[in-house]
Amino acid sequence: MCLTLPAKVVSVGKNGKAIISSGTKDLEISLGPVNDIEAGDWVLYTNEFLVKKIDEQDAREIFDLLASYPKPDYDNLEDKFKKVLESASRQTLTKSDLEYLFQLEDSALLQALYSEANITRKSNIKDHICIHGIIEFSNYCRNNCAYCGLRADNHEVKRYRMSPEEIVATAVQAVDRGYKILVLQSGEDLWFDEEKICQIIKDIKSKCRVFIYLSIGDRSFAEYEKFRQAGAGGVLYRFESSNEKLYAEMRPGHILSERINILKKLKEMGYVLATGSIIGLPGQTASDLANDVLLMKELDTFMPSFGPLIPSKNTPLAGESKVDFSMVLKMIAISRLVMPKSRISVTTAMETMRSTDGRQSAFMAGANSVMFNLTPAKYRDDYYIYENKFFDAGEKYEKWALFKGELSYQMMEKELNIEI
Ligand code: 5AD
Ligand code: SF4
Repeated sequence: MCLTLPAKVVSVGKNGKAIISSGTKDLEISLGPVNDIEAGDWVLYTNEFLVKKIDEQDAREIFDLLASYPKPDYDNLEDKFKKVLESASRQTLTKSDLEYLFQLEDSALLQALYSEANITRKSNIKDHICIHGIIEFSNYCRNNCAYCGLRADNHEVKRYRMSPEEIVATAVQAVDRGYKILVLQSGEDLWFDEEKICQIIKDIKSKCRVFIYLSIGDRSFAEYEKFRQAGAGGVLYRFESSNEKLYAEMRPGHILSERINILKKLKEMGYVLATGSIIGLPGQTASDLANDVLLMKELDTFMPSFGPLIPSKNTPLAGESKVDFSMVLKMIAISRLVMPKSRISVTTAMETMRSTDGRQSAFMAGANSVMFNLTPAKYRDDYYIYENKFFDAGEKYEKWALFKGELSYQMMEKELNIEI
């Protein structure tokens, strides 16, 4: 689902259209499903039509959320920075440009970087914020990733599995509320075999119209083919780190080249890719982060998905220090400059570090996608990737953004260039 934008009604014509003021300019726009407005009312609109009437207070909250940093004073910025921004606008950023940006520390330059990224977002995809719902349906995992609280060797975790019926019911309920993109996530849990996963996807798709990302880790290509045929549209499958050595240390028994091959193959199968890395892994350098961004681009990632390491108890990384939040904002901004049209996700780890204010800072640095946790409350605390995982039901966003009906599906398909 995409966040709609607020505007004030200037006048309502007899031609099924209204003139609205978005703050910067007046637009003529189709009334769509709205028929009870007059001049002075506040409304939400998409590129093509009005969605609904709202309170002025709600409109102000959305404006705040979509606030920007002031435009930088370009004359006072160092030459190297200006050169790099020029390369960004020509889409010719090199790896060394990215490393330079990751190493920035001066606060004026950082603000200029975020601001530039936000302008890039606005000029490429306007203020449309994509809303996803995630259902964490099993926390069993056969793997032992060094960073993750759900690793098999962590016996302190209370393990759970939702039943297939419960998963389907949770998904259908979400779509009823207006969600149109869902992520079905679990640890690597083979209890959910090919047949069960296919049946879950088919059951959901037979009951409602929704785009499904799978986030279930390694499966054979044959299985992924079956999931695709059953109706899965995307995969959320991170490469975690583009540094081979670091990857092997963090994911014992796995090698990076295999992960990358799988991502490429999934893309060939027609899956939409959401992938990325963890920021702040031990020994990670600016060069590694630059390579992470380049790898996301090379893979033609539709939804860059990355977040800071949150050191989790009962894992080998429990004693690691937390990365500075500015590193996360740099990653967002640099990814935006390198992939101007992508859907950069504000992830739970970012919110856990900084709560809702993290979300707004992320938008201001170029992010444009959010993920709300729809896992039923009784399981939520046990999906224990790390401590104090942030939770927000996203009610505020749902009020603004989740609207139903054929028009809303058409709009999403067009904007995201995906079939739902
Ligand atoms: N901190 C941040 N992100 C983590 N993940 C797992 N453990 C952590 C952690 N401690 C991320 C991984 C994985 C995703 C589901 O969660 O990137 O792909
Ligand atoms: Fe399992 Fe995923 Fe955690 Fe690795 S990151 S241990 S695969 S749940």
